[in-house]
Amino acid sequence: MRIVSGIQPTGPIHVGNYLGAIKQWISLQDKNECVFFVADLHALTTPYEAKDLQKSVTEKVIAYLAAGLDPDKVIIFTQSKVKEHTELAWLLSTICPIGELERMTQYKDKSKKYKENINAGLLTYPVLMAADILLYKAQAVPTGKDQEQHVELTRTLARKFNQKFGQIFPEPKSMMPEYGAKIMSLSDPKKKMSKSDESKSYISLFDEPEVITKKIMSAETDSGKEVVYNVTKKPGISNLLTIYSLLTDKPIPEIQKDFTGKGYGDFKKALTKVIIDYLEPFRRKQKELQSREVYIKEILEKGQERARIIAETTMLEVRSKMGLT
Ligand code: TYM
Repeated sequence: MRIVSGIQPTGPIHVGNYLGAIKQWISLQDKNECVFFVADLHALTTPYEAKDLQKSVTEKVIAYLAAGLDPDKVIIFTQSKVKEHTELAWLLSTICPIGELERMTQYKDKSKKYKENINAGLLTYPVLMAADILLYKAQAVPTGKDQEQHVELTRTLARKFNQKFGQIFPEPKSMMPEYGAKIMSLSDPKKKMSKSDESKSYISLFDEPEVITKKIMSAETDSGKEVVYNVTKKPGISNLLTIYSLLTDKPIPEIQKDFTGKGYGDFKKALTKVIIDYLEPFRRKQKELQSREVYIKEILEKGQERARIIAETTMLEVRSKMGLT
């Protein structure tokens, strides 16, 4: 299968991004043709510092590698370096009904969050995302739950294009983990964990042990003291149980049993250790990779060349079908 996915370079990659997306990418990389990029063009739709953008992109590539992506197996590159993404986005925007974009949950949320900056890119963002996916004729898109609606729109646009101009695009399916598709914020477990929120609301893949300890010990929990999974009554502890279970591969009922008669404090201490141990190799690899600038640059250049070959081939077909050649 051809698989496509990406992450925006805004803010550090956190355990939500890892459990919702990157962990799936790693298990897919051996048997599929995978295209994973850093979505720098998407990041321009919300406030950012131009002078920090390149550093952020490099940090994301380091995170991909430190988490276990193998650059010999997957195509890794920066979105803006393959110009066909923006070209296809424009072409797809001409067949995308505005109503479809206005009903996107992420557009509504971000327009509320960034009231001072409701730019057109925020609205047309899912068209660029559809272009990212269709350019490579992806069959599947591994992401967390929050991107499902965008992948659904991608299928709609693929169908519309195929009907209007002739069959080119497969309709890509969403691929989400059974658990972990929506990891919640540590400071407000009713909200999803998000890179653009305050740092104490997420665990970054590279947080140092002391920082992890502080964040988990002060994570919002619920009334009562039993360590029991119940999303409506105990959203805080249920979120922490989900993280514990995914990082240890231990089913939640077993974890609950281990903590019968113990309180939130004991559970949080154990979870802290689980996270610190799990992320230890990530921190080690990050430190190694930070001094290998040339290696990172080479990976991106090689990735972008491979991506461009696929993208150019698709665009020849698209331009021809749309009457542009
Ligand atoms: P982004 O950068 O917001 O998030 C990257 C990936 O992490 C997942 N994710 C989560 N999963 C579980 N729990 C959470 N709390 C959580 N927060 C984020 C996201 O679902 C995503 O998979 N628009 C995309 C980037 C993108 C893209 C694409 C993805 C651009 N083009 C094409 C797939 C295909 C985004 O902003 O992801």
